[in-house]
Amino acid sequence: MQPIIIAIVNNKGGVGKTTLATNLSHALANKGHKVLVADLDSQSNTTHFFLPPQISNYLSLYDLLKDNTPNKPESELRRYIYPTEYEGVDLLPNVQRSAGLEPVLYQDVEAAYTALRNNLRDYALKHYKFCIIDCPPNIGVWVMMSLLASDCVIVPIESGSDRSIDGLDLAIDTINQVSETVNPDLRFLRLLVNKVDKRKTSTRNMLSRMVQDYGQENMFSTTLSESDIYKQAESDNKTVIRFQPRSSASNQIRSLGAELCNILDEYDLDQSQGKLFSEQAALEEAE
Ligand SMILES: Nc1ncnc2c1ncn2[C@@H]1O[C@H](COP(=O)(O)OP(=O)(O)O)[C@@H](O)[C@H]1O
Ligand SMILES: [Mg+2]
Repeated sequence: MQPIIIAIVNNKGGVGKTTLATNLSHALANKGHKVLVADLDSQSNTTHFFLPPQISNYLSLYDLLKDNTPNKPESELRRYIYPTEYEGVDLLPNVQRSAGLEPVLYQDVEAAYTALRNNLRDYALKHYKFCIIDCPPNIGVWVMMSLLASDCVIVPIESGSDRSIDGLDLAIDTINQVSETVNPDLRFLRLLVNKVDKRKTSTRNMLSRMVQDYGQENMFSTTLSESDIYKQAESDNKTVIRFQPRSSASNQIRSLGAELCNILDEYDLDQSQGKLFSEQAALEEAE
């Protein structure tokens, strides 16, 4: 498996992007992989989760991007990255004030969109097996920046109601647009269905609609069940694997990590698999 950068994207909040970034990273690190987690959301939930409490004045994505000069040397990049209390997991933290950079970034959109690619990509691929980018709940400059820096995208979606599928096409269209234009190497990896409660008819209906609309081959076979353990673990500032290693939530996260590694092992990085949705769309248009 080659080193890979994965963006976690969904323009909706609360679907589990941060939960996935933190818990999946831990599962991958437990499999012996070095993982860098980049927090691109200025709400900084991932940062507060991972950053050891004794570190208060830290350098962050804000400092990395504030002067937007590309190709910073390794000696400088290293200063923005912190070890966490999870062996094998490092963090590029964020701070709320990075939201204030947006107007500056929009002054030169091309430089902004390529900022992460030009400043983090080579470093991440050289030093880590996985770089997981946790994105904010919108499709703005931070998400575009992440998509340009990434090899593939995971889109978590919340099960439970048809409404959670609304808006999904925007995320998928954006991923396809980026892969058809500015980052041809980008591929859509899988949808991940989160907060599943199979006892609910609404969940079962939503799952069958997902399979019908998007195809099982575009969805992880592992789904994450709705479980209070996520919230309990979160308030204890722990991953579910650390909070309750034998829970079914932990087992599902481990299965997801294993499934991801299997998919990537089989991935021929030269083969263009990521265009599936756009090919489907083109077929539909042609009909
Ligand atoms: N499978 C799950 N079961 C129950 N609660 C979950 C699950 N996944 C995530 N949550 C909870 O849902 C909330 C939103 O998740 P979060 O990862 O912060 O979403 P996002 O980053 O997409 O905004 C959090 O409180 C989290 O603990
Ligand atoms: Mg989040």
